[in-house]
Amino acid sequence: MSREILKISSLKKNFASPNGSEIEVLRGIDLSINEGESASLRGESGAGKTTFLNIAACLENPTSGEIYWDGARVDNLPNRAQARLRAGYMGFVFQAYCLVPELNALENVLFAARIAKNFNRAAVARAKEILERVGLKDRMAHLPSQMSGGERQRVAIARAILNSPKVIFADEPTGNLDENTGLEVMEMLLGLCSQERAALLLITHNPDFARRAGRRLVLKSGKIFEE
Ligand SMILES: Nc1ncnc2c1ncn2[C@@H]1O[C@H](COP(=O)(O)OP(=O)(O)OP(=O)(O)O)[C@@H](O)[C@H]1O
Ligand SMILES: [Mg+2]
Repeated sequence: MSREILKISSLKKNFASPNGSEIEVLRGIDLSINEGESASLRGESGAGKTTFLNIAACLENPTSGEIYWDGARVDNLPNRAQARLRAGYMGFVFQAYCLVPELNALENVLFAARIAKNFNRAAVARAKEILERVGLKDRMAHLPSQMSGGERQRVAIARAILNSPKVIFADEPTGNLDENTGLEVMEMLLGLCSQERAALLLITHNPDFARRAGRRLVLKSGKIFEE
């Protein structure tokens, strides 16, 4: 039987709107992602995709429901315990890259090792090796401001994969890139996840990218549907 990397059960999320009314963003979501599986998630702006991802990563609390990582319930753990688990278990790629401006490419990738408290020579070697694999051998000493958008996003992907996470969350990773660069970055992300057997949950507005994932999910009216 495949290992369940991520399981979401009966998830609901309401937000209090500034005028005092409640917004029901997620209205009962059940979803399991298995080891090495890739899934894309589409849905209109405001549908709740980012909210869903944040809750699945325990970066935000659900109104109700349960979150399991690797079969163990985590939504009821203290934040510190969640953070410790998250650092080794999950990688993140955001639309806005979110690199540290003062750190060069290599140091940005190694930041993931520092967070997971496993900064050592093996981590440095692996960071260099991953940067080579994403085509940035000659950019390791560049600051984010000295790199193109596509290069920055490849650094972010290298950072996300450094700790050999079981799942990568990518929230519109090509949203700031032109079509060709977006395609390159997407191929890199899909390729690395499959080489490393990391599951991928990919939020994208691009139907072509969405189709490349093993499973295609749509978030609509607060529920997730499989296409
Ligand atoms: N902290 C908050 N307080 C109140 N409402 C919120 C909060 N965060 C998000 N929302 C609302 O929840 C809904 C879902 O937001 P979310 O960011 O998850 O959408 P999304 O699907 O990621 O959209 P996009 O494609 O534009 O990124 C939106 O209507 C938003 O206004
Ligand atoms: Mg979003």
